[in-house]
Amino acid sequence: MKRILVTGAAGQIGSELVPALRLEFGNENVVAASHNHPLTDEITNSGPHTRVDVTNWGDVNSTIQKYEIDTIYHLSSILSALAEQNRERAYEVNFTGLYHILEAGIKYKLERIIVPSSIAAFGHETPRDKTPNETIQKPTTIYGISKVFSELMGNYYESKHGLDVRGVRLPGIISWKVEPTAGTTDYAVAIFYGAIKENKYTCFLTPDSYLPMMYMPDAISALMDLAKADRERLNHHSDYNVNSMSFSPKELADVIVKRFPEFKINYEIDPLRQSIADSWPNSLDDTVARLEWDWYPRYNLETMADDMIDNLSRKLDT
Ligand code: SER
Repeated sequence: MKRILVTGAAGQIGSELVPALRLEFGNENVVAASHNHPLTDEITNSGPHTRVDVTNWGDVNSTIQKYEIDTIYHLSSILSALAEQNRERAYEVNFTGLYHILEAGIKYKLERIIVPSSIAAFGHETPRDKTPNETIQKPTTIYGISKVFSELMGNYYESKHGLDVRGVRLPGIISWKVEPTAGTTDYAVAIFYGAIKENKYTCFLTPDSYLPMMYMPDAISALMDLAKADRERLNHHSDYNVNSMSFSPKELADVIVKRFPEFKINYEIDPLRQSIADSWPNSLDDTVARLEWDWYPRYNLETMADDMIDNLSRKLDT
């Protein structure tokens, strides 16, 4: 039987991954862990939850022991824009926190650890279109460097210590339940709130800032399907490209205008987030993930926009 711990369970992805895992593995078998952020009512009302500071080795140990954990989805991470503003915190959470989880993996002989990487693991020198799975990785942000660290560490613990560590390079994730915190791709969520609440949105990236994105249900499938994949088939571990859709703020605004004809977008560029976006790819080549664990995305820009507007309108109405 699986006993799963999800760190960062109050975040944008954790808030949706925990319910999906509980549906599959049983409410009691999925422990939601957060440090400072409040978990959703959906999570606290449906199963075990606890406060864990991943930068504290004692906390990580006592949680694994108390709940007899055998699998960890390690989602705790300081996202790109915030990490640039608070390097110390980013170092503690993204580097030390990950190190603790991997060491705990060896100490408690965990069955599997899933750690998402990101498009932030690439940089200016990376080919921007259909970025290959194996390519130049010289990120120019603390967050990106921490994701290269997590990929290399995951692969190292796998090859040197036999620990089963897996990860996908996620693009910007679009979702309606919980908003992301201080990332560069956040505009693609905030724009829907703007459209539904006041028919307008001020974007912090330029109209043509093209970036890879994915709708949450596909991100959840990517994480859960990779976790379930037959280990024998995997020739990679912590560094799978996954691709879904790519668009610019202008293209997303055009899709929204089709549904909200009065919608207006204007632009006030944030130099920090713009410089980060300019260093990331346009799209990823995910052939390796398709071959090794049958990855494929279900949503495109139009179907994502319809589903987002449907669900977010209902949420904001209540
Ligand atoms: N969504 C993340 C960010 O913008 C990318 O991994 O920081």
